[in-house]
Amino acid sequence: MTGVITHETAQWQPDSWRSAPTGMQPVWPDEHELPAIIDELHAAPDLVTAGEIDALARGIAQAAAGDALVIHAGECAERFSAVSAADVAARVAQLRELGDELTGKRSPAVVIGRIAGQYAKPRSTTTRLLVRGFSVTEIASYRGDIVNDVAPDRLSRTPDPRRLLRAYHHAAATMSLLRADAVDRAGSRTSVFTSHEALLLQYEEALTRERGGSWLNTGTHLPWVGYRTADPAGGHVRYLSGIGNPVAVKVSAGTSPSTLAEVCARLDPDRRPGRLLLIGRFGADRVAEVLPALADVVRNAGHVPAWVCDPMHGNTFAGPQGRKTRRVADLLREITGFVGALTKMGVPAAGLHLEVTTEPVTECVGGPGGPDAAGLARRYTTTCDPRLNPRQAKFVVAETRRLLLR
Ligand code: PEP
Ligand code: CO
Repeated sequence: MTGVITHETAQWQPDSWRSAPTGMQPVWPDEHELPAIIDELHAAPDLVTAGEIDALARGIAQAAAGDALVIHAGECAERFSAVSAADVAARVAQLRELGDELTGKRSPAVVIGRIAGQYAKPRSTTTRLLVRGFSVTEIASYRGDIVNDVAPDRLSRTPDPRRLLRAYHHAAATMSLLRADAVDRAGSRTSVFTSHEALLLQYEEALTRERGGSWLNTGTHLPWVGYRTADPAGGHVRYLSGIGNPVAVKVSAGTSPSTLAEVCARLDPDRRPGRLLLIGRFGADRVAEVLPALADVVRNAGHVPAWVCDPMHGNTFAGPQGRKTRRVADLLREITGFVGALTKMGVPAAGLHLEVTTEPVTECVGGPGGPDAAGLARRYTTTCDPRLNPRQAKFVVAETRRLLLR
């Protein structure tokens, strides 16, 4: 690119992100293997349909209007090893239960999983030091099962492009179990939509297809852009700007109102209700201070997003032995601040975004039966961020419902 073609003048294509600065992409050691893998992905069947994507957009529009609530939850990083029918059934049951808990079944729940594709992770550092006895070696960071393996040795951590195909096939298997679940419950329950961070743009591009006159990401219903890659001029926002799916954006305490306005202008030039899900992850201490100006600038620009609260990613700290953790009490403080700030402005608080797991892990501190800091070691199994166990998740959601009803 010469730099003279801008986003505004160029016709968007699924590969348009390639001419914008794009962070967090793996460096594959075997670049020569990549073209055949990408060709195979291009030829692979769609995982989601245009009709389903439309249904989700309607749900998000309803939530933005205060007529429905969104529960957007699941693993921080899905694992290739956790895609059995029993695993997926347990995760779906938990999502539905959290949806019912949030709404008290009084209003529709828009149930969205971090599921069937949540395999790529942004990392703050590209390598980490591995200390064994007196030897210290530097190994690549774990970037999610779509890139490398979590085992802490050099070979496992080497990015392997064949993992792109494995990710697709595991997502497809998960999707087929979600569909079977929806058929089993037809009529009585809402469907579960899928979502993941659209981080690896080679993968997302290969699953982007023209369907019914617009470009759709056919790999997931709701792709999102993470806080580390939400640069309005960056490749991730450019990629999401051209697809017809609803898109989600992580918004942090460090996001300025003008930056958020620019991101929203690029992603939602038509001010279409149902297009934007904004996920605030500000931190309990910052939410009340920063959210009003952000919600205001977006509203004044004419966008109608559904604002949901991610009380987890702004409240992470290192506990004993350096284990990353979060306090349930901080989560509740952030949710309280979030609901309070939006309610005061007359903007609906549209739901929650949570990292949860179906196992009785001890990764977050507090809540009913939850561990104290010393108890974290008992069952700390996450490969990435600390997740709420089922009891903690249900408690946080029930407390949120009480706040919303006030
Ligand atoms: C995540 O949701 O797992 C994540 C990395 O979030 P954020 O981009 O908000 O840090
Ligand atoms: Co996370």
